[in-house]
Amino acid sequence: MAKDWYKEAVIYQIWPRSFKDGNGDGIGDLEGVLEKLDYIKSLGVTAIWFSPLYPSPQADYGYDIADYKNICPEYGDLELFKKVLDGAHERGMKVIMDLVVNHTSDEHPWFKESLKSKDNPYHDYYIWRRGKGKRPPNNWLSMFEGGAWEYNKGLDEYYLHVFAKKQPDLNMDNPKVREEVKSIMDFWLSMGVDGFREDVITFISKQDGLPNGFPLPIATGIEHYKHGPHLLEYLTEFRKDTLEKHDCFMVGESPLTGAKDALELTSGKDKVLDMLISFDHMQADCFMTDTVAVPFSLNRMRKAFDTWQEKLYGKAWNALYLENHDHPRIISRYGNEKFRKESGKMLATMCYMQCGTPFIYQGQEIGMVNNNLSSLSEFKDVVTFNNEKLFKKFGFSEEQYLKIANKTSRENARTPVQWDSSAYGGFSTTEPWFSVNPNYTEINVEEAEKDPDSILNYYRKLLKVRQNSELFLYGAFKDLLPKDEKIYCYERTLGTEKALIICSFSDTMCTFRTPGDYDLEKGELLLCNYPDAPAKAHICALRPYEARVYYYPKEK
Ligand code: GLC
Ligand code: CA
Repeated sequence: MAKDWYKEAVIYQIWPRSFKDGNGDGIGDLEGVLEKLDYIKSLGVTAIWFSPLYPSPQADYGYDIADYKNICPEYGDLELFKKVLDGAHERGMKVIMDLVVNHTSDEHPWFKESLKSKDNPYHDYYIWRRGKGKRPPNNWLSMFEGGAWEYNKGLDEYYLHVFAKKQPDLNMDNPKVREEVKSIMDFWLSMGVDGFREDVITFISKQDGLPNGFPLPIATGIEHYKHGPHLLEYLTEFRKDTLEKHDCFMVGESPLTGAKDALELTSGKDKVLDMLISFDHMQADCFMTDTVAVPFSLNRMRKAFDTWQEKLYGKAWNALYLENHDHPRIISRYGNEKFRKESGKMLATMCYMQCGTPFIYQGQEIGMVNNNLSSLSEFKDVVTFNNEKLFKKFGFSEEQYLKIANKTSRENARTPVQWDSSAYGGFSTTEPWFSVNPNYTEINVEEAEKDPDSILNYYRKLLKVRQNSELFLYGAFKDLLPKDEKIYCYERTLGTEKALIICSFSDTMCTFRTPGDYDLEKGELLLCNYPDAPAKAHICALRPYEARVYYYPKEK
């Protein structure tokens, strides 16, 4: 398998608004990031991915960009950004920017121009269409906010927005728009940035003629753009014209794509992306979207992981993640808050011992958990508001929806990072833009630093084990108990070198019998989330959410 820096990277995601406030206005910023670079480095991180830092009205917290070549004044300026970039590079960490080019903000100058008249040169930067009589051009619904079309009276046309109204979709079929994208990429790469996380990049090509979609409660029409006709062509153009000129890394966010799409986009010498951010394994406790919750199923989760591991091995590369700014906290979700430490460590072991590049989301490394807001008025996100309308339409009461939002909303991941036990969790000296989880007095970085048994210190140890081992970086993956309801057990192999990874998802004790001829007494225990790991050769008792990693060196 070809080696590459990104395959050996550990990527830490910063969602800037809630990471660390450096100037005391209650909003996270680059000053705050600068303060914490050493901390990030201390985890074993080798690259930072910044969620959008650009000027934005913040209708979707930065995923609605008003200027692609600048920094949001709330976060700093270009000069401060360069300081952060240099600071990261000096510490041996790369920097990856979020590239959001499926849509812009409606406050972007291009969109403002496009509103002026049908023959304005920017009009065709967006997807404008005449309605059908009094109705929109087709039946598409947005992911975030009712219909996907917004009417403009002056122009007597509708513009398409597959996300919020304030996020008009760019018309990627227009070659001028593609030139703009390349120019944005070039701007940041020339400054020294090392790559991009490309936001919903698989949505950029819409089916010609924009046909009606299969009716759904949200996102009707998605089959016509989730992997559109010109996707490969446009991504190839970006790669050839711009990206190839730099040693640049690209990870594409790709909702509703499977391992087959990953092979198309990320394998072979003409690959257009280095890896995909898949959603398959995030659907083990929900249907289609996080909000439609169903009980967690280990089998659903493992099937997703196993498929991506097996199909991509030797051909493409996996992004390994459990958290980001779009999902609730993983301990509350796939783990158990009552066994916060145990399940937090187990989930990290389960995910990051697989083959791929680990992505860690701010706060995950200290085991932050979901928040519990007492009223809907405390929420901040367009998705939460949209779902509120939908759930009400389906007859849910406000109280019932509040419960659902507390459990499933992505805002759970957006509370300020808990740095210490002082006021506001040490995130800011003033009241933050969004409430700090009240558990900050117990769960915070300072506390975790002091505790040798903390989730934080386990992450450090785990990453060290992984990063120093060809076996964990490049070894093959095999699920050894593909049907077990409680235990996820897999092996990694490289030649005759092996590791056995055992992860219990049970909240009670359970018995583990070794698959194949694995002998626990002969293995070297590399990791365990309990202080000891009693075992007989072929059997052991696993405590709640126990995780173990055994190592078997090369046979001589
Ligand atoms: C991606 C982002 C998400 C954003 C959406 C629209 O899914 O991760 O935060 O709301 O795209 O840009
Ligand atoms: Ca600030």
